[in-house]
Amino acid sequence: MEKIQKLIEERVGYLIVLTLLVISVAGMVEIVPLMFQRQTTQPIPGVKPYTALQLAGRDIYIREGCYNCHSQMIRPFRAETERYGHYSVAGESVYDHPFQWGSKRTGPDLARVGGRYSDEWHYVHLINPRDVVPESNMPAFPWLADNKVDAAVMPKKLEAMRKLGVPYTDQQIQTAAKDVEGKTEIEALIAYLQGLGLALKNVR
Ligand code: HEC
Repeated sequence: MEKIQKLIEERVGYLIVLTLLVISVAGMVEIVPLMFQRQTTQPIPGVKPYTALQLAGRDIYIREGCYNCHSQMIRPFRAETERYGHYSVAGESVYDHPFQWGSKRTGPDLARVGGRYSDEWHYVHLINPRDVVPESNMPAFPWLADNKVDAAVMPKKLEAMRKLGVPYTDQQIQTAAKDVEGKTEIEALIAYLQGLGLALKNVR
């Protein structure tokens, strides 16, 4: 035994190869089962694919960098669940590509912000946060009210999501452009925010 140990510790080549081997096997043992477990691959009841308008809103959320200040991941600790509601579970984000869990919290977690405020509140807040929360240091996003959602690309976006496993129907893809036509970016973003975390909203 001592001989083997000596061999490995004194020859850096062996050390590197065997270390990589241990890490790969251990990594596979942890990661591969997650790809097949119901708990991590199936949506929990009540989780539906985003509507075309919500999907457009989600892309605006990513484009504007909202995730730099907001996580969407409630940890299973009392201080978190008392403030934000039921902790996040994997089955809530199976249709999120990419998911927006994050960990940076300059602002509050948004995993269950759906329904917490009215659409009007979000509208005012996004145009100028200080109008509703005087001490807020969140940036203002006034252009979202002027920009129109790019309707023409929506069918392609839904199709891309379908390739990733989101069960959109042909009909949903066909009507995707019409569904968002004439909508402003702020409306899409609010539709997205209002849908966040509803499946476990009233579960404690
Ligand atoms: C520079 C950091 C920063 C960025 C970027 C940012 N926010 Fe915020 N956000 C905050 C802070 C701080 C608060 C808490 C004060 C307030 O309510 O305005 C907040 C609050 C919020 C709230 C209210 C949450 C609650 O539970 O009260 C929502 C909704 C929100 N932000 C959405 C967004 C969206 C959507 C974007 C991107 C368009 C965004 N934020 C970008 C910092 C940020």
